[in-house]
Amino acid sequence: MNRFFSETVKSLTPYVPGEQPKDGRFIKLNTNENPYPPAPGVERVLRELPAEIVKLYPDPEAIALRSAIADFYGVDPAWVFAGNGSDEVLAFLFQAFFGREDRIAFPDITYSFYPVYAKLYSIPFVTVPLRDDWSIDFSGYPAGLKGIVLANPNAPTSVGLPSMAIEALLRERPDTLVAVDEAYADFGGESVIPLTARYENLIVVKTMSKSRSFAGLRVGYAIGNPGLIEGLVRVKDSFNSYPLDVVAQRAAAASFRDRDYFFSMRDKVIATRERFVVALRNDGIQVLDSKANFVFASMPGIPGGEVLVYLRERGILVRHFDKPRLDGWVRISMGTDADMEKVAFLLAEMVRQRDGRTAD
Ligand SMILES: Cc1ncc(COP(=O)(O)O)c(C=O)c1O
Repeated sequence: MNRFFSETVKSLTPYVPGEQPKDGRFIKLNTNENPYPPAPGVERVLRELPAEIVKLYPDPEAIALRSAIADFYGVDPAWVFAGNGSDEVLAFLFQAFFGREDRIAFPDITYSFYPVYAKLYSIPFVTVPLRDDWSIDFSGYPAGLKGIVLANPNAPTSVGLPSMAIEALLRERPDTLVAVDEAYADFGGESVIPLTARYENLIVVKTMSKSRSFAGLRVGYAIGNPGLIEGLVRVKDSFNSYPLDVVAQRAAAASFRDRDYFFSMRDKVIATRERFVVALRNDGIQVLDSKANFVFASMPGIPGGEVLVYLRERGILVRHFDKPRLDGWVRISMGTDADMEKVAFLLAEMVRQRDGRTAD
């Protein structure tokens, strides 16, 4: 490690993103991207954008985009914050609301960026185990927390929590800020955005990366009361006051304006997921009920790492997390129907090979 690194940087274990192969040889089901293109209006914006436009700084407040998001959800633009992907929004959120003197909590199995941010900003945190059925157990969270951060549906499990459970938490802990990361909620999860109007201790973070096919343009947003949004703006304006570039702002607004495309594409992903889950279960593969654009699957007797290698050798990338309790599992993002038929076929073959081995 370089001797000029700060003590904080020396102690970090950075987040490792899923592989992005350069040669297009693989069916990529390892980073929960969307197999379909963004809304047609997005392509139109990208094609027709005059090059001239890049000579000026973008709108620092991203007003047109925030208005388009606000229209979609039926809220006022003052309730919306936009950033470079929800990872940036989450980073601002950790900085805006939590400090060294606070304590926050999140589940032991969740999006692995949360502990990375907590360490980067020296925020003391505790992790609370998921229940045996993989659901979040709020009764196990200590008292006096400044914040609880959770992904709903959770990652990498895909398990969704009913909004009633989050509402009960908001009511029980009015002095705890509850940040709900709804990266995957568009695929059938229950969103708590409607609750933001009633609970000043709730902030919701969303991304365009998954349900709007925008992973490459980096647009995420938060919805919450203007008091909370101001906290994010204060951090943004103390760090980089022009966070979203002009191309991302224009293209993202076009995506929000095309409701029909959004819903039909989302329905297509959900239908593929449901078919895929049935196919795997028919082959004796364990799959958690998913509310996301991925499934979490386990083949009893075969380590997840082996499944990953087996599929990789056959041109398919999936994700495996080397963590206690997750060793038998892989996370598989939804591709097209043809992609998923291929994966289901290969996994069935793997199960047959395993059964052949045990029969010997
Ligand atoms: C739970 C969760 N939150 C946030 C993100 C970040 O999304 P992005 O930065 O692309 O908006 C991801 C990405 O995989 C995720 O899984």
